[in-house]
Amino acid sequence: MQILKSISALRSTLAAARKKNKTIGFVPTMGAFHEGHLSLMRACRKQNDIVVVSIFVNPTQFGAGEDFTSYPRDKKNDCLLAKKENLDIIFYPSEKSIYPDRTLTYIDVDKIAGTLCGASRPGHFRGVATVVGKLLNIVAPDTLYLGQKDAQQCAVIQQMVRDLNFPVKVKILPTKREPDGLAISSRNKYLSAQQRREAPVLYQSLCLAKKAIRNRQKSSTKINLLIQKTISKKSSGKVDYIACVDANTLQPLKTIKGKTLITLAVRFGRTRLIDNIIVTDV
Ligand code: PAF
Repeated sequence: MQILKSISALRSTLAAARKKNKTIGFVPTMGAFHEGHLSLMRACRKQNDIVVVSIFVNPTQFGAGEDFTSYPRDKKNDCLLAKKENLDIIFYPSEKSIYPDRTLTYIDVDKIAGTLCGASRPGHFRGVATVVGKLLNIVAPDTLYLGQKDAQQCAVIQQMVRDLNFPVKVKILPTKREPDGLAISSRNKYLSAQQRREAPVLYQSLCLAKKAIRNRQKSSTKINLLIQKTISKKSSGKVDYIACVDANTLQPLKTIKGKTLITLAVRFGRTRLIDNIIVTDV
């Protein structure tokens, strides 16, 4: 496994692989690997000749007062885990190489970036789209791997890929969960013992919503209320948002129909957790 820090070294290594008709799979990350990341790497390993994983804690996707400086960083352990997954390349760029002094160009994905998480974290998806756009230009992979846990991030990146004609296939893999249902996330580390015990209520409430939809409840207001009540009854979590939206366009749905994304964000103290499920109404 190679650890490459410079864009030019990465580009020349990948150009040589491309000349030999090797396929390149890419998993962008901010490090602090957990089972969610590893599942993306495993899928990428199975489906590609060369696996590239980037580790870059991207400053432009954190707002003022967010956890950029305290975001978990553990290069040593990440490299150990990456070796076990038999990756080919870790791309570990510096902040200066991704954002040189005079960076003036950013990617704004209209409409879908400003809702849901984007409403509480202004500028977040601009930072995500910009860095993923830059990484796609640098790595030029055949396939990009993302996790469903960040459903809005997936929608924003898919839209950007379509709109800006990036020649890449996007694969979205299911959310990895702890045995009690909590979606695996780097931010779970911030939870106190009590908050950790309460946090599975996010997934429990989504499962109850799914059951209600199967039992013919089609009103998104009622589904939202069911989720809200479940969370406040069983936890100290403060709901940021709960929404039933079209899974592709992220537009709000009054009546649940077709492929619906039920998505939520809940704060436990200073920690904001997100989760979602997709329900297909037939
Ligand atoms: O999901 C993440 O870890 C980040 O948002 C990403 C896609 C690596 C961009 O910084």
